[in-house]
Amino acid sequence: MSKGTFYITTPIYYPSDNLHIGHTYCTVAADAMARYKRMQGYDVMFLTGTDEHGQKIEEKAGEAGVSPQQFVDNIVSGILKLWKLMNISNDRFIRTTDDYHVKSIQKIFKLLYDKGDIYKSIYKGKYCTPCEAFWTDSQLVDGNCPDCGRDVYYAEEEAYFFRLSAYGDRIMELYRSQPDFLEPESRMNEMVNNFLKPGLEDLCVSRTSFKWGVPVSFDSKHVVYVWVDALSNYITALGYMNDKYDDFEKYWPADVHFVGKEITRFHSIIWPALLMALDLPLPKKVYGHGWLNIGGEKMSKSKGNVVDPVVLAGRYGVDALRYFLLREFPFGTDGDFTNEALITRINSDLANDLGNLVSRTTAMVEKYFGGTLSDLGQPEPADEELTGMAKNLRSLYERSMESYAFQSALMDIFKVVSRANKYIDETTPWILAKDESNKARLARVMYNLLETVRICAILLTPFIPDSSEIIRKKIGADLSIFNWDSAGSFGLLPKNVTVSKGENIFPRLDLNKELDELEKLQPDTGGTGTDKNQNKGKTDGIITIDEFRKTKLRIGEIKACEPVKKADRLLCMQVDFGSETRQIVSGIAKWYTPEQLIGKKIICVFNLKPAAIRGVESHGMLLAAEDGDRARVIFADDDLKPGAEIS
Ligand code: ME8
Ligand code: MG
Repeated sequence: MSKGTFYITTPIYYPSDNLHIGHTYCTVAADAMARYKRMQGYDVMFLTGTDEHGQKIEEKAGEAGVSPQQFVDNIVSGILKLWKLMNISNDRFIRTTDDYHVKSIQKIFKLLYDKGDIYKSIYKGKYCTPCEAFWTDSQLVDGNCPDCGRDVYYAEEEAYFFRLSAYGDRIMELYRSQPDFLEPESRMNEMVNNFLKPGLEDLCVSRTSFKWGVPVSFDSKHVVYVWVDALSNYITALGYMNDKYDDFEKYWPADVHFVGKEITRFHSIIWPALLMALDLPLPKKVYGHGWLNIGGEKMSKSKGNVVDPVVLAGRYGVDALRYFLLREFPFGTDGDFTNEALITRINSDLANDLGNLVSRTTAMVEKYFGGTLSDLGQPEPADEELTGMAKNLRSLYERSMESYAFQSALMDIFKVVSRANKYIDETTPWILAKDESNKARLARVMYNLLETVRICAILLTPFIPDSSEIIRKKIGADLSIFNWDSAGSFGLLPKNVTVSKGENIFPRLDLNKELDELEKLQPDTGGTGTDKNQNKGKTDGIITIDEFRKTKLRIGEIKACEPVKKADRLLCMQVDFGSETRQIVSGIAKWYTPEQLIGKKIICVFNLKPAAIRGVESHGMLLAAEDGDRARVIFADDDLKPGAEIS
């Protein structure tokens, strides 16, 4: 019996290069969720795919001397292989170049145009080519693209616009009435403060400067530009406005969209607005997960600091990599990838805890009972803690999984695994085995261990499906007692099952040897690593004294200070440097009131190129320290004169 439907999606990935473990992270998380829901008895639709249009792809294809279609076909086939390797159980895979999607997009665009939600006008703005994004001046950071930090250029062209500005109030109302629409909670605050409160601007949704996109059916100069094309994949893949599929009614609205934090805005503002314009129900949840970083920087191809999942999965196994990704990092926040963390995690959890429990237990059943237990003794008080924890595990795990807390679901399981290992040490089976009169007690101890292993392995299935299946076979559990329902009861394993130890599932790794090997295999990422060729200086953090001297630091005195309108985070200061007074804008409004700053001496970077921050000119930067999640300004001694140079 189906418990209902569950529709989960990942973002559709840009096929511009090979995917790295940052992409794998989201897909593995969605896969674990999909498998968990299937295990619970839901009719699951798990969608992933590729986002194949745009100027960047057109350019890359040109550089490679192939057509855009050939270019994406080639990369997409690599992506499909990667998901197969990673054991991703997606039910559907959408490519935005698929014929049915293209036709649906044309219809959606026309429908919105006919309703007046899309209109034609002139676009003027700053454009970032790598990110394929137009930005308003107020969105630029130091005059550069707020996403990637690169140069933007002025562009002006005829374009169609989506009337996003008309939907601000309804989106606010959505957040109010459905506070779990966007998680983690911090992301919602960010949307409200940075985008909704300042007011939404209409969105440019067509381009004439390149061809590689879905043509606007009624104005062939234009191609549909990125977000209408990309976001709509979640409904066209179900058959919305096409005949390819017919389960839109069944699965829509989505239960959850998993997205990285930098595209949260598109999913929690633009996407609901588009759906409102189409009179369609809204997704139940958008989950904006954190990034995998390397040395504090986002792992991304353009930074040259990527880690290849194929290398890691090939060396340590797909399950070890899947486990690591979801156990090491809390899903909602950023995490720093290191080879050392990977090897250490595999050793401590998979080899030592889980692997050891399974191999010790099965080895003892073989050694003391020839693989099949004899009569069991009565449960004893010494068993209660372990059996109690095992019985209770499913409900703890369920609570974590329902809130997308993969890390804590795994920690719940591994607490029981550790407890079971401790139980072996407490019950000392090797001593019991010395005396035939203890046989029934020994059988009971072994049985408790096998049952604990069974329950843990069932609940691990969404994370490490192949390994769970191997464990199931080792303990001789039939499929009928290896499912969601049976994970809730202790004592289901028939005592006459035949157990076989076989090979170790997770061999222990030699940390230093592995670090050396990984360094050779992925020289870009060794140790604290980033790309040695591109980013050497940045990577090891060492600069020469001459490089440091390029930064001119000076003492300044804050003469005046006020909040920046429509930018909650910003304060605008007039800073006296003796010879001149400069305006400096800084994102510290959350931590300081203007009164706390006026009259204070601060340290500023004096030779920083002036920039517009949210449209306000800023010339220089004040120094502040991070303290947890707040910032503290570095104040200088009151004796120091404004303008004094720091050397
Ligand atoms: O944004 N850590 O595609 P994309 C964690 N096509 N996640 C990461 C990551 C990292 N280091 N690097 C990338 C797009 N990602 C659009 C989406 S959806 C309608 C259109 C995640 O290939 C990133 O956060 O650039 C995003 O969620 C996903 O990979 C796809 O990124
Ligand atoms: Mg991206």
